[in-house]
Amino acid sequence: MSAHKGEQSLATVGLTKTFGGVAALDGATVSFRHGKVNALIGPNGSGKTTFFNCVTGMIRPDAGRTTYRGRDITARPPHRIARAGIGRSFQLCRVFPRMTVLDNLLVAVRPPNLPAQLAGARKREETERARYWLTRMGIDHLETAEARNLSWGQQKLLELAGVLMSEPELILLDEPAGGVNPALIDRICDLVRELNAEGRTFLIVEHNMDLVMSLSDHVVVFDRGRPIAEGPPSVIQSDERVLEAYLGV
Ligand SMILES: Nc1ncnc2c1ncn2[C@@H]1O[C@H](COP(=O)(O)OP(=O)(O)O)[C@@H](O)[C@H]1O
Ligand SMILES: [Mg+2]
Repeated sequence: MSAHKGEQSLATVGLTKTFGGVAALDGATVSFRHGKVNALIGPNGSGKTTFFNCVTGMIRPDAGRTTYRGRDITARPPHRIARAGIGRSFQLCRVFPRMTVLDNLLVAVRPPNLPAQLAGARKREETERARYWLTRMGIDHLETAEARNLSWGQQKLLELAGVLMSEPELILLDEPAGGVNPALIDRICDLVRELNAEGRTFLIVEHNMDLVMSLSDHVVVFDRGRPIAEGPPSVIQSDERVLEAYLGV
């Protein structure tokens, strides 16, 4: 996290992924800046989630390369990409519903079958870190609640806490505000600003344009599996290609 702001963060060249004849990604060449809040927007089906799945190693692209801070990560499995410093959240939020809030964070970083002798000290340290992140998310009072009893927005905050448990430098968020009530959307925005000020880079897929425009430094617009425009929010808002893509003209 000590690297220069403005340095290249995540970048792809010619990223391509086809599902049964449909090009979800169609030679996407794009790069995001280190230290910034970047946004990736575009109509439904334009390939944003597939882009996240490819760059995090969850699905293998048919063609193209991905680099992170200059290093090729294309063929790496998800756990190695995570270890390189990239964390992500999911559009449909992944928490274990019948597990407590605290346990959700502990399993986020540790395989459940670690031998008891090894587990003790590590568990104490991880519990402390889990409480730290729960406090920062504002959900520490829910530590012993089962995750399924949290509101949707609180579950998203829990998922974000789980992502932060592995101390990622780059955080990919897939629709963090989707279905979340306005008060918690403000909380999520504040957190992104704080975490960015502390040195973390963001790449956010989001449909809430007020959020995208107020939060991001740089916006990339996807249409049909590739970027069609990019720039600061003020420029993107009035870009004709962007309006066309959204209106389906
Ligand atoms: N696992 C999959 N199997 C088949 N088609 C998929 C799969 N994932 C995505 N697609 C298709 O790829 C296209 C892009 O989808 P997606 O990346 O989810 O778009 P977005 O996140 O921008 O809404 C869509 O046409 C979608 O139906
Ligand atoms: Mg999506």
